[in-house]
Amino acid sequence: MTIEASDSARVDYSRVFTQAIDRLHAEGRYRVFIDILRNKGAFPNARCFAGHNGPKPVTVWCSNDYLAMGQHPKVIAAMEEALHDVGAGSGGTRNIGGNTHYHVDLEAELADLHGKEGALLFTSGYVSNEATLSTVAKILPGCIIYSDELNHASMIAGIRNAGCEKRVFRHNDLAHLEELLAADDPAMPKLIAFESVYSMEGDIAPIAAICDLADKYNALTYLDEVHAVGMYGPRGGGISEREDVAHRLTIIEGTLGKAFGVMGGYVAADQTIIDVIRSYAPGFIFTTSLSPVLVAGVLASVRHLKSSSVERDGQQAAAARMKAMLADAGLPVMQGETHIVPLMVGDPVKAKKISDVLLAEYGIYVQPINYPTVPRGTERLRFTPGPAHDEAMMRELTDALVEIWGRLELKKAA
Ligand SMILES: Cc1ncc(COP(=O)(O)O)c(C=O)c1O
Repeated sequence: MTIEASDSARVDYSRVFTQAIDRLHAEGRYRVFIDILRNKGAFPNARCFAGHNGPKPVTVWCSNDYLAMGQHPKVIAAMEEALHDVGAGSGGTRNIGGNTHYHVDLEAELADLHGKEGALLFTSGYVSNEATLSTVAKILPGCIIYSDELNHASMIAGIRNAGCEKRVFRHNDLAHLEELLAADDPAMPKLIAFESVYSMEGDIAPIAAICDLADKYNALTYLDEVHAVGMYGPRGGGISEREDVAHRLTIIEGTLGKAFGVMGGYVAADQTIIDVIRSYAPGFIFTTSLSPVLVAGVLASVRHLKSSSVERDGQQAAAARMKAMLADAGLPVMQGETHIVPLMVGDPVKAKKISDVLLAEYGIYVQPINYPTVPRGTERLRFTPGPAHDEAMMRELTDALVEIWGRLELKKAA
């Protein structure tokens, strides 16, 4: 006998899904993806396919290919060579057939970049955070993780999947972190998880002071350097290299998809910890390894940025110039000490409107940043000027923003 639910008791799946999307529309934070192709060798110029008018030229202002390494001739050449030498894919997981010589070389290069005994590659920075945090905390029975309130979603996912105790400390607030550490049993394993550069605010964590607290309370440290590797430190080892504290951190995590311009993620740490993650983390074990073509490109990029500071210097100069121009124009630019240039709007509908007008009328592409990427009420535009953004592009952007600010009667800087 089959049992059928009456019509009123049947789940209307389609309605539930539609309502979920309707909620996003109602809050003004439904996401629309742009459809572009970047012009190789001419970054930040791209072609935009939206509107069905054929490709239209746009200037990209929100790329995380911060140093344009994704188009660097050495990176392209290394990828072409690898493609012709070994083909497209790795053919397997790291354990079964997919451990290529490129992977081995890149891990050695990344371990050296951070002065650590070992490094481990993942298919993205997201996966490296999720897999490592969840695995390390599971290996340490009773582990408590102390997490900065602005930590990235991938760290939060890792902490949640660890199933361990979690304490959230106020952003970069050492007193609050210490209060939480001091309140817990000294005998329990502890791990402090934080970022160096917070990518939506553009501020930097007090890494040395957090390491002092870690020493005092016998805690491990986990630093996400995703928005710093390649860009800070004499060899691109991140803020921890710049401030000479890499040796004090237990695990340093980074991405290969932003300043290094390609794709992938990694952690660097002592050999035993690397061995634990390699041996226990499902997100490392049960997935096809990165394509050797990508790894070859990253190798060229990491090696280049270890010895060249031209890109880093150009980026810092462009960011400082851009912040000064926006501030001079009376626009509410959030002043920070990093390469990130956020412009506060404080409303999701207005942030999207500004972005739409910039694209449609000025050929300027910047994505609005809404909840949950940033807290509600702090919606913003986030510009990432790099070495290839010149003075004329910055002037064009500033003038466009001033015009739109006036047109939409938005608040100027206080
Ligand atoms: C702080 C932070 N950590 C990790 C990630 C994930 O890195 P990936 O893009 O390589 O997955 C991101 C963003 O993408 C990030 O902003």
